[in-house]
Amino acid sequence: MLNEKITDKTPMIKILQAVDPAIMPDFGGGDRDMTRMAQTLMQDLFAMQTIYRAAIKEISTKLEILNDEFQSTHQRNPIHNMSSRVKSPKSIVEKLSRKGFPVTAEAARTYLDDIAGVRIICPYIEDIYTVKAMIEARDDIEVTRITDYIEHPKDNGYRSLHLIVRLPVFFSDHKVLVRIEIQIRTIAMDFWASLEHQLRYKAIEPGRIPEEVSAELKECADTIAETDRRMQDIHNTYVKD
Ligand code: GTP
Ligand code: MG
Repeated sequence: MLNEKITDKTPMIKILQAVDPAIMPDFGGGDRDMTRMAQTLMQDLFAMQTIYRAAIKEISTKLEILNDEFQSTHQRNPIHNMSSRVKSPKSIVEKLSRKGFPVTAEAARTYLDDIAGVRIICPYIEDIYTVKAMIEARDDIEVTRITDYIEHPKDNGYRSLHLIVRLPVFFSDHKVLVRIEIQIRTIAMDFWASLEHQLRYKAIEPGRIPEEVSAELKECADTIAETDRRMQDIHNTYVKD
């Protein structure tokens, strides 16, 4: 694995040269022709991105419709905003190699849950579970995994509800079942997660936060969680849904 941080400017060839040869695809020919390998892999991964982009469009529309319907029945939105991204070819290669999977588009499709990612930000904690229930109730979206980091926060204080879902995307002559990772969190949880993420990557030693800073971040996460609960109580006391 590359020791330095991979950025958009890191050449693909450099990333591939750092990958353990044992998990690199075999292109026949014998010699490891890195340039050809990088080109083929990039082509495969870019082609694959089209499918995941289509899946994101599908799920975003479905979620917007649900949000609109909720607005018309409850006069407010359980979704404050939504964002999405398709993992870049470089991040895919980096993750496959970090996890020891073969560095191929096929392996990415098989082993990575988060090539397509959607983040849903909700005003209140209970909205998160409303959105989850709305997704679960649909027969065109299959929820295959739920990780509840709100009931069970990570040791560092991270809170969020993660769903892995599968939905069909229709092309001219075939249908593909595509996996998407959905992260659902409150505005407050997102505030913490965004800054913690930034801090981790901007740290003096990237990826590693010193222990005393971790402890302080954890305290902030717990304070934020308490505030989320109080805001929920205020809402439940004063607003008739
Ligand atoms: P990977 O998919 O290999 O990362 O592990 P996993 O499948 O166990 O995923 P997990 O559910 O723990 O995390 C998936 C995503 O959630 C990450 O890519 C982040 O976007 C987010 N996430 C998880 N933990 C943290 C955290 O401690 N801080 C922040 N800011 N985000 C996190
Ligand atoms: Mg994951």
